Parts: sequence; structure tokens; C-alpha cells
Amino acid sequence: MNDKVKNTAAEQAPGEGALGRIAGHVKTAKPVHRAAGARAEFGLRNANYLCIEGGGTLIVIDAAANERPRIIYCGKALGNFDASELALLSTAQHAPGSANAHIQHSLLNEIGTGASGPRGFAAHRNGKDWAADFRVLEVQSDSSSSAAIHCTDKSAEIEVTHNLRIDPATGVFTAQTKVTNRSASPLQLDWCAALSLPLGDQLDRLFGFSGRWANEFQIEEIESFRGTYLRENSLGRTSHDNFPGLYLANKASDENSGDAAGFHLGWSGNHRVMCDRQQDGRSSLQMGELLFPGEIELGEGETYQTPSLYACWSSDGRADVSRKFHQFVKSQILDVRSMERPRPVHYNTWEAVYFDHDEASLKELANTAAAVGAERFVLDDGWFGGRRADNAGLGDWWVSKDVYPSGLAGLAEHVRALGMEFGLWFEPEMVNPDSDLFRAHPDWVLSADGLDTVPFRNQLTLDCTNPKVFDYLFEKISHLVSELNIAYIKWDMNRDTHHPGSLTQVSPHRETGNRAAMHAQTLAVYRLMDKLHQAFPKLEIESCSSGGARADYGVLRHTDRIWTSDNNDARQRQAIQRGASHFFPLQVTGSHVGPRQCHITGRIFAMEYRAATAIFGHMGMELNLLDETEEDRAVLADAIALHKQHRALIHGGDSYRLNTAEYMNAVGCVSADQSEALFSCAQIEFAPGSAPDRLRFAGLDPALNYNVKLVWPPRNPSVTSPSIVEAADLLGDGAVFSGEALMEFGLQLPLVLPDTCLIFHLMQDDQT
Ligand code: GLA
Repeated sequence: MNDKVKNTAAEQAPGEGALGRIAGHVKTAKPVHRAAGARAEFGLRNANYLCIEGGGTLIVIDAAANERPRIIYCGKALGNFDASELALLSTAQHAPGSANAHIQHSLLNEIGTGASGPRGFAAHRNGKDWAADFRVLEVQSDSSSSAAIHCTDKSAEIEVTHNLRIDPATGVFTAQTKVTNRSASPLQLDWCAALSLPLGDQLDRLFGFSGRWANEFQIEEIESFRGTYLRENSLGRTSHDNFPGLYLANKASDENSGDAAGFHLGWSGNHRVMCDRQQDGRSSLQMGELLFPGEIELGEGETYQTPSLYACWSSDGRADVSRKFHQFVKSQILDVRSMERPRPVHYNTWEAVYFDHDEASLKELANTAAAVGAERFVLDDGWFGGRRADNAGLGDWWVSKDVYPSGLAGLAEHVRALGMEFGLWFEPEMVNPDSDLFRAHPDWVLSADGLDTVPFRNQLTLDCTNPKVFDYLFEKISHLVSELNIAYIKWDMNRDTHHPGSLTQVSPHRETGNRAAMHAQTLAVYRLMDKLHQAFPKLEIESCSSGGARADYGVLRHTDRIWTSDNNDARQRQAIQRGASHFFPLQVTGSHVGPRQCHITGRIFAMEYRAATAIFGHMGMELNLLDETEEDRAVLADAIALHKQHRALIHGGDSYRLNTAEYMNAVGCVSADQSEALFSCAQIEFAPGSAPDRLRFAGLDPALNYNVKLVWPPRNPSVTSPSIVEAADLLGDGAVFSGEALMEFGLQLPLVLPDTCLIFHLMQDDQT
């Protein structure tokens, strides 16, 4: 077991390498291209062009000393270019009625620059020093793929450092900005974007990600616009409604071709996402933390660090952007420990028993879960304190004597004896007013002076920035983890935090009292997760927040899985999982087989469909297996066996989204050497045409031949015959086709009923 701990509590600043400061102004790994004399008239005299590149991404920045830093170019790598040429090509046309000289956008587009468009920075000292104008002080670069640009506004006495890094393997660009107050007078920071990123005009379609509880990661497409696409989240978690990420793509692009780009803010608190298109055609993107008034006040020498913005470009369509993000998450964000071993198939008790816990029935459920193939048993809400319903007990993290008179060890041992790991649900940051914890410490919650807390699932948010709260939670959770030998925590968080005021956010230059603290709270939660990981290096943690409301790269640095949605309705899940796949690889997206009649939508689905939908993810179950028929349990066991058979491919391969009509959803995984692939194709709605569509595969090697089989459902799904199923013996030995034919010509799907999911297995044919 590799005992590498998590990727540090505070993310390593990109571009902050081991080298000390470099004498002089700038050191770039690529030679510095100086502006030609003739171009002095464009104001580029003494320009220093910083190029960072890797993995197919290139960023060129004009970082001339004492000038405003600006991005000349960002996007897919250019094979043949010269930075000064790009600078010349970026010359802007003077527009009638505008400033005499064109005002360039800077890295934060701050007020002092006079530039139009959204500001990337807003701060002041009680109304003074409000118009910052940052100039380059120094540039550090210790590799061709990373740099730190240090800037200062000397008169306002504020410094900012932009840490920029491109992952050489994937091309994913990470940007983060640090703000330091150099004055004795406190600085109130209202907003600082991770970076203000210019966007190419060819990326004219926007794909946002919105949703709600039980319907996360819904894609909304917006055609070209002028003005600002703005999503703000102030609910204290990543949010169901406003996922901090978006894609841009060219009109002519699709999943597997054309220019596309993806952007994400790795942060689990409040945030702002902005994409702005101005009248002069310039576009920019900003993502950063949404700060509440007075939330960040920096004393002399104090620093605020933005969350990281992740960006990625491709000329091979949106799904290629997703693959780069996936690879980046696997190699740079997730803990290698969870990647090293197969992701265990879950059995979760929530929809099986809710709060109705009974040791004997849970043991019986565990027996049945193990029999169908579960490898991890997660005991959900209801095991502790006075938690017999969702109105009491949160915060009282001890095993309920009423429900488990002899403790939980018996159940945990029973689960382990069946060959499964034992996992337990916690909601650490929350407390019910009806709890011993709240009765003893009513002042441990976040609140705003003079305001009633917005009622929300009968619970309040604990102030994790309070060291006493932090220590209490660590002590209670770690005691149980060690006593019960818990392998896995489902870490839930089930309310919005509208008024994140803390009484403990004090510092010498601040008045005491209740101050907004969502920033500090988010970091405290990350710290608590890390402290548990350090104490229990094998412990895995799932990030759940009423389903997928805390899914982002920030929390994934501290956790191993996300609970994608509370909604296990297979039809709805097809869309939710497709949306989530834009940012998250399949081995982290929890995907469970739900009960025959979905508890959330009331719809009824066959086990074949429910199980097939859960195969493409971190598979699990969340249903009362004893309510299912024996036949359906057997189908489920077959599906779990199929998942396990192809788990390495599903979780380790490159994932593809295919271009299909909206009444279908087709996705797949292709092995790195392209010798094997698994594709799933779901019929979501009744098709308008009398005959089914053709399915064109993607990601195969055109030169290879593949034996194609239909490995799910177990019986011929075609409602009429003949079809390709018989013609190519897809349920038997299969048939061999070239990769090129499968991708270019494809096959006509069998005619199936809505809510049918076909899974094709493609294996390189040895005869070729
Ligand atoms: C949230 C989670 C569910 C379940 C319940 C328990 O809603 O998303 O999966 O754990 O809490 O209260």
C-alpha cells in the first residue's frame, strides 16, 4: 500500500517551484522574445514575453517589467509561432468613441487599468485605495510549464502573485492568485478572480451546468450573446444549482471534433462564474470565490489565496476536454491510494431502511448484498445519538444505545466476515438544535447577528473554524473510526449555509464579533478531512451533499468519491452522469442501482436498465434487496459481475461521449492501447422515427479490427427481428469489424423500448 497522503491541505501553488527568486526581471524557459524596434509604436517596447506550455496547451503572456501583465494568447498549442508575432497579431483596432489608445485587459482587469468588462479584483481600505493597477515586479519560472508573476500596486501597497502551471501530461492549465497587503492599514478584499482569462472568439457556444437537488449536472446550452453569463453561488457549498464550471465550444464542434474548452473552479464554498462578451468582441472568463462583506480583511503582510481555476482546450471536441480533465484528476488531484486498488462495489442502506435501523435486518441485508457482489457496506444516517428522524441527533456522534444496545461492532464484524468493508455515514459540519451537542454549546454554530437562521432540514451549520468544534469533531469521528475499524466515511452536508458568521474569526486588526467566514469554514473542513486521513491513512472519504452539491476539484483533493445525486432513477441518471462526466472521471462518480420504483420520481424501471446505468461509474446499490424478486437479484448479480469484469477498463480507460440524438445517451471507455472498449447506449425516450438510429463508435484505432459483442442486456432486446443482434451474432460469438468502419459507418442499433440500455464490448481481434 502506497501511503502517500493527500495532495496537501492547502493546494500547492502552481508555478511555485523550488527555485528561489531569479535576479533581474524575468527568466523564461523559452528564450525571451523581445519586441522588434518597429513595434515600439504599439507600446511594446521592452516587452518580455513569457510562454508556458505543455500537453497541447500554450499560454503567452506579455509580462514586461513595470507594465500591466496581459495574456496575449491562451489555448491549444501552436506548432510554429513566435511570441512577438502573436503580440503583433493581437493588435486591437481603435474603436470610434473610445480611449485614444486601446486599453488591454490585464490578468485581473482591475479598476485602475480603465479596461472595460468585469473586474477581476476589488478591494479598498475603508473607501481608499479602491482603484488598484498592478504592474509586473518580477517573473519566476522554474520550468517551461509553470511561472509565477509577481505584481504590485506601489501606491496602494498591494501585491498580487499569479501562479500559473500547465500539467505537461494533459495540458490542463491551473491558475491561482495570491493577494498580500503591504500596508499597515487593513485591506478589505471584496473580490479576486483566480485569473481573468481572455477567450477566443471562435468559442461561441456556452455550456453551463445547473440543476437542483436530485437533478444535478444539467447542461444548458447558450448560443452566442453579448453581455455577461453570470452564476453566483452564496449557499456555502459547491451547490446543486450553480456548478462552478462551464464549457465553451465552436458552433461547428461536437463531442468528438472541433474547438472546445472547459473551465472549473476547484472550490467547495461560495463562488462566482462569469463569462463576458463585450461590444468590441472581446471575451473573458473569471471564476473565483464569492466573498461576503468584510469576510476577507488583510492585516499588514497577510495573504489571501484564491481557489484554483482549471482550464483546458482541445481541437477534438468537448469529450476530449473531459478526457484531459479526467486524466488530470486521476494524476494530479486524487490520492493514489484510492486509484491503486479496484473501487469496491457499494451497498448503501439509505433507501433500504432510512431511519428504521435494526441490527438483525441490517445483517440480513448485508448477507444479501454480499451475495450479489457488494464489497463495501455503508451504514447510512440513523445509527447515532437520538437520530430517529431528520430532526434530532446531528452532532451526537456516538452509537445509539436505543438502536444498537450492544454497539455497532457486531454489525461491522458481520459485514467484514462477509468479505465487505464497513463504512459509516457522518454529517460532521451539522448539528440539530435537538441534540446534546447543541444544548451544551449553542454558540458553536454559524449565524448572523440579529438574524434568524433560515430553517433548513432542521439543522444548523457548526463553526468548524472554532478550534473547539474542530477538535470535538476530530475526536468523535476518529474514536469511532478506530474503535469500529471503519474503512470508509460517507461525509454528508445537507443544508445551505446562508449566514456563515463566525464568532471566532478574530485578529489584532479586526473588531471581534460575528464575521462572515465561509472561506475559513471551507478550509477548516478540508483540514478536518486531511487530519483524519493523516490519522488513518487507509480511510477513504466520500463527498456527499444532499447528493452532488459538494462535487468539485477542491474537495476531491481531500476525498475519494462523490455522491453524484440522490436520484437513482435510471433515466434521470443517464443525463446526470453524462453532465458529471464533463469534469469527473467514472471511478469517482458514485452510481447506485435503486429500487424498482424510484423513491424520488416514482417511476418504475426493470432491473436490466437500473443495473446497466450504474455500471458506468463507481458502482453501488441503494435498495432493499429483500424487496426485489429473486430473478431481479440474479440480474443484479450478473450486472455487478459484468462491472467487475470490466472495472479496470471503465475506471482506467479513456472515456468517450458519443454524438447521438437527444432521446439517446451513448458513452464508452476505451483502453489506453485501444485494444478493448466498452460502450453503453441507452434509449431514453421513444424515438420519432420508425427505425432506430445508427451508432458510430469513437476512440477506436481505425486500423485495428474488433470483435463486437452485446454483453448487456442478457437477452435479445430487439422488439422485432431480424436485426444486427442476430445478423452479427452479437449475443454469441460476435462479429469482427474494422475500427474505421465502426467509427465512420457504425451500426444500426436494434429497435428497443425506451429505458433499455445496451452495452457493447469490443475486443481487438487477434486474427488481424
Ligand atoms: C442526504 C444524502 C443521502 C442520505 C441522506 C441521509 O440526503 O444525499 O444519500 O445520506 O442525506 O440523511
